[in-house]
Amino acid sequence: VKEDAGGRGGDLLIVTDRNVARRYLEPVSSSLRAAGLRVPSAVLPAGEKTKSGRYLFALLSRMVREGLTRESVVVALGGGVIGDLAGFAASVYMRGCGLVQVPTTLLAQIDSSVGGKTGIDLREGKNLVGTFHNPRLVVIDPTVLETLPARELLAGFAELLKHGLIFDEELFGDIESSFRRRFGPDAAPTAGKAGKWILADLSRLSDLIVRSVRIKAEIVTADERERGLRMILNFGHTFGHALEQLTRYRRFLHGEAVYLGMDMATRLSARLGMLAGDEAARVTALLGTLPLPGLRGIRPRELLRQMARDKKVRGGRLHLVVLEGIGKALTREDVGEDAILQSIREALAGRA
Ligand SMILES: NC(=O)c1ccc[n+]([C@@H]2O[C@H](COP(=O)([O-])OP(=O)(O)OC[C@H]3O[C@@H](n4cnc5c(N)ncnc54)[C@H](O)[C@@H]3O)[C@@H](O)[C@H]2O)c1
Repeated sequence: VKEDAGGRGGDLLIVTDRNVARRYLEPVSSSLRAAGLRVPSAVLPAGEKTKSGRYLFALLSRMVREGLTRESVVVALGGGVIGDLAGFAASVYMRGCGLVQVPTTLLAQIDSSVGGKTGIDLREGKNLVGTFHNPRLVVIDPTVLETLPARELLAGFAELLKHGLIFDEELFGDIESSFRRRFGPDAAPTAGKAGKWILADLSRLSDLIVRSVRIKAEIVTADERERGLRMILNFGHTFGHALEQLTRYRRFLHGEAVYLGMDMATRLSARLGMLAGDEAARVTALLGTLPLPGLRGIRPRELLRQMARDKKVRGGRLHLVVLEGIGKALTREDVGEDAILQSIREALAGRA
């Protein structure tokens, strides 16, 4: 931190949540202390509610009290909630101070810590306020994933699989064949078993994380402000966000909704004649065996209506990411409602 991230003795603050603090605050603090730094920490409650104005302002005040300056470094130790909140605080504190991300969930390691997006939620909706603020350093240690609940781990894996589907056929193929080797052609594992499979070989997991980070980094470097290519990262997300909103963020973890959303988007790609039937079948077969919460009460028409309200609607058109091959995605804004509706129906029926 001293050399790479511009920190000096006494001018950093670790921001973390209670779950993460219990396990990892001491080891991280003591290694920084060993480097001769004073290491204050702000431990916040865990959960999405912490990504709010209330905790943002509390954190900014704490930064003032700790004497942080523009040269100081905020160390975000935690999942995407802590990364987004602490990153946002770092980006506005004295018009911007340093940021180091130490992501501790799979989602944060492969997704939210890469690309520079930070932000908080408002009562009116998620991620409505934010900035682009790149960290000076991201430290990823896959061994911390061993304490992550299996459902969270599997939810983060959705983004890894997504990176393969939109950009790297080989990455998807490696995941698919490892999954098939472990579970056979038709088995549907529980979240616990799928979690054990993900963690079974840490060097393979590290390799998948590195490949996934490279993909996200390449995409966001090409299009930092989400004007073109970066939109393909939304594959499955327009459907997924609508599912999360319809179920009031209570039933699905984000990644679980994304699995279902990618299933719908894959079927849509085939329906539009862009993705070959056998490729679509490979993708939906894998997505269809991953454990998800029940789909009771989800009505295709309501989901479609919710999608239309999504912020990705620009100029009255719905931007949808579709596949034209495994590893190759593009956005379309000319997709008819019927095709979308049929794809939603098909994906829901596939899981009935
Ligand atoms: N900035 C971006 O580009 C970006 C991208 C995707 C998602 N996000 C945001 O990320 C957030 C979701 O992040 P998340 O899924 O990491 O959730 P999270 O930060 O809430 O973490 C999930 C849970 O796991 C716990 N936890 C974290 N690390 C742990 C560990 N190693 N061992 C045990 N428990 C641990 C946390 O305390 C929390 O209870 C959302 O707010 C979303 O909007 C941001």
